[in-house]
Amino acid sequence: MLGIGSDHGGYQLKQAIMKHLEARGIAFTDYGTYGEESCDYPEYGRAVALAVAGGACDRGILICGTGIGISIAANKIPGIRAAVCGDCFSAEATRAHNDANILALGARVVGEGLALKIVDTFLDTPFSNDERHIRRIRKIEG
Ligand code: RB5
Repeated sequence: MLGIGSDHGGYQLKQAIMKHLEARGIAFTDYGTYGEESCDYPEYGRAVALAVAGGACDRGILICGTGIGISIAANKIPGIRAAVCGDCFSAEATRAHNDANILALGARVVGEGLALKIVDTFLDTPFSNDERHIRRIRKIEG
């Protein structure tokens, strides 16, 4: 199960990503926001991060205007490795090297076409399981 969430700035892109996930047959839970009214990104970052950290979701996707605020909020939850990506190379690397469990996108930064490619790259790239990457991830967790 994938968890997805956004603030108002990411709402339209979230709708497009959910349509894309449906077309790919990927199950997801939408943690809001459910409209374009102004709201606070930490609430949605936290909700998806808690779902991933608690095991209700395997991975998450978060969207705000820049992807930055919502990723900062998500990264406060122990066990979360949320990565803001604006290109496919970063999305692939953060899965392979960091085992990122949340992808954050900036709806005011990337267009819909690129965002969907970044989503696919993030979802389709496995963790490398390389010993040096495992060691570095353990060091992040302190
Ligand atoms: C909301 O205007 C905006 O600040 C938010 O979407 C995000 O970009 C924060 O990092």
